[in-house]
Amino acid sequence: MFSSRVSSDLTPNRLSAAIARLRQARVEIDDLTESNPTRVGVSYPGRLLDALASPAGLVYSPQPFGIPAARDAVVGDFRRRGMTVPRDRVVLTASTSEAYSLLFKLLCNPGDEVLVPVPSYPLFDYLATLDVVQVRTYRLDHHGEWSLDMDGLKRATTERTRAVIVVNPNNPTGSYLKCPELGALAAHCKAHGLALIGDEVFAEYVLDADLPRTCSVLAQRQALTFGLGGLSKGLGLPQLKLGWLVAGGPDDLVKPALERLELICDTYLSVATPVQKALPSLLADGAAIRTQIRDRVTRNYRALLTAAPRCPSVDVLPAEGGWSAVLQVPAMQSEESLVLQLLEQDHVLVHPGYFFDFPREAFLVLSLLPHPDVFDRGVSRVLARIEAAE
Ligand SMILES: Cc1ncc(COP(=O)(O)O)c(C=O)c1O
Repeated sequence: MFSSRVSSDLTPNRLSAAIARLRQARVEIDDLTESNPTRVGVSYPGRLLDALASPAGLVYSPQPFGIPAARDAVVGDFRRRGMTVPRDRVVLTASTSEAYSLLFKLLCNPGDEVLVPVPSYPLFDYLATLDVVQVRTYRLDHHGEWSLDMDGLKRATTERTRAVIVVNPNNPTGSYLKCPELGALAAHCKAHGLALIGDEVFAEYVLDADLPRTCSVLAQRQALTFGLGGLSKGLGLPQLKLGWLVAGGPDDLVKPALERLELICDTYLSVATPVQKALPSLLADGAAIRTQIRDRVTRNYRALLTAAPRCPSVDVLPAEGGWSAVLQVPAMQSEESLVLQLLEQDHVLVHPGYFFDFPREAFLVLSLLPHPDVFDRGVSRVLARIEAAE
């Protein structure tokens, strides 16, 4: 009766089952996988949501790409970051996940392929499968710093490839795309008629300001490009359900892309009016939230760098940006068994590297968002467990 877009095996994995058991027993867990900014003690301006109650939100005048004032606010936000984007290339969406779905509908027929990085964001498989699109992977390699395996990406490109996705900075490696990498990618996309999709939701969370990095995929002009962002990460407001995609590249590609995208967006009209009306004031008043989150992830990353040398077999991989950190740990047992032990015996939750398709074991992924007390206690328990196993 049901389509194969959703797997018929919906049993929870061992980690989810263990978490559910502990939560039912009311065991307190130091959750170092927490990526929800509304649950980590960030203080949100008291009157931030007043703008959602404006009577202007009572009038429904649907526009496929969003109301002009809201799109102008996105233009203004790019200007704040030193970038110029024209309003007619800005498309509002309900989330970045929805932006992916719109782009897959625009670019791919059933069975077509998109290239995604590994290790990276685990949702790509689900997002693509729901739109009947196939995912093929290209590697990010770590040798002191992360770099894109351009030869592997070229080999992974087939007749059916329609787009290359980059996450900049990447989740969970925290690595930014470097300028020469962006140039090579754009040239490859141009040569093969592929779109370049840049997920830039973490772009403003720079952990290492000294490293050379690109600011946006929209800076290149050769290939049809889409830059994705939104309130979820940009302002720590995932519950408001407002994101955007911005088209870039040559006019003769952008124009037909936007004409088709307009029809797709018009079919759903998924972004609520009150949040669009409120967007200018949310972007202005929400800057303080972004600052708090930036301070939090920077503080926790530094605390991790300070704590880790106590356990010399643990390596903190250098992170340049984003909300997570990666630990390389001795592969004396499987990642799954280590993570289950940490959860069940030490009551600290971390993600195993295989959740993000690390090519080998053993890696642990930690969110840098938790409250410092939780973060420091959790890190200390992780290091103690690894020390004890040596
Ligand atoms: C790389 C990346 N892109 C997109 C998203 C989802 O963003 P949104 O809430 O706008 O769908 C996430 C969420 O964790 C993410 O890590």
